[in-house]
Amino acid sequence: MIVKQDAQEIFPTLLWTVDIVSADVAAFNASLKAEIENIILPRPKVPSGSNWQTPQDLHTRPAFADFVKLVEMAGRGLAQHLQVEQFPMMITGCWANVNPPGSYHPTHNHPNNYLSGVYYVAVPETGSHLVFQDPRPSLIIPRSAKHSRITGNAYVAQPRPGRMVLFPSWLRHHVPSNEGTTERISIAFNLMFTNFAESLAPPSWKPSAGAN
Ligand SMILES: [Fe+2]
Repeated sequence: MIVKQDAQEIFPTLLWTVDIVSADVAAFNASLKAEIENIILPRPKVPSGSNWQTPQDLHTRPAFADFVKLVEMAGRGLAQHLQVEQFPMMITGCWANVNPPGSYHPTHNHPNNYLSGVYYVAVPETGSHLVFQDPRPSLIIPRSAKHSRITGNAYVAQPRPGRMVLFPSWLRHHVPSNEGTTERISIAFNLMFTNFAESLAPPSWKPSAGAN
């Protein structure tokens, strides 16, 4: 006879969402938008469905110093949650995307990094999503009565101005076509352990005494 039935969720995939104080969003985003516009001017013609992207060095530019602080705070918060804050991380790349209506970004991940993230500077009222794909090799996907994070094979995050979403860099994701009427402007970044080879790559076991 059954004494008890229980469910455990193993190997969860963590999304870390950070919202800045709503009173600060308009001014902060206006200043980021002006800097981004400056960088991509004059805008070259891009193919239909494509977008404008800045160089990946925004984190080295003084104009983005406050943004870098925000990334560092968010990264530290997630590292503390994961209890890996004893291993410092650095930004390895940071760039802005300006997506006009109709543009999209196909499925990808961010190799050679531990955490990745995106911050929203401008988001259309409707029709803008970020879709994360189930990393499990799902060969059988039953249509359950209610879509859930256990039985579903995608997660749709809702962008909004002032929001930052961090995720494991291996997690595949895509940005569907911007179905809104205005541009979606976002800033993406990658974080990696600063001293990965020195601090994390060596074996964690110690040779026993007398071993050779
Ligand atoms: Fe991405």
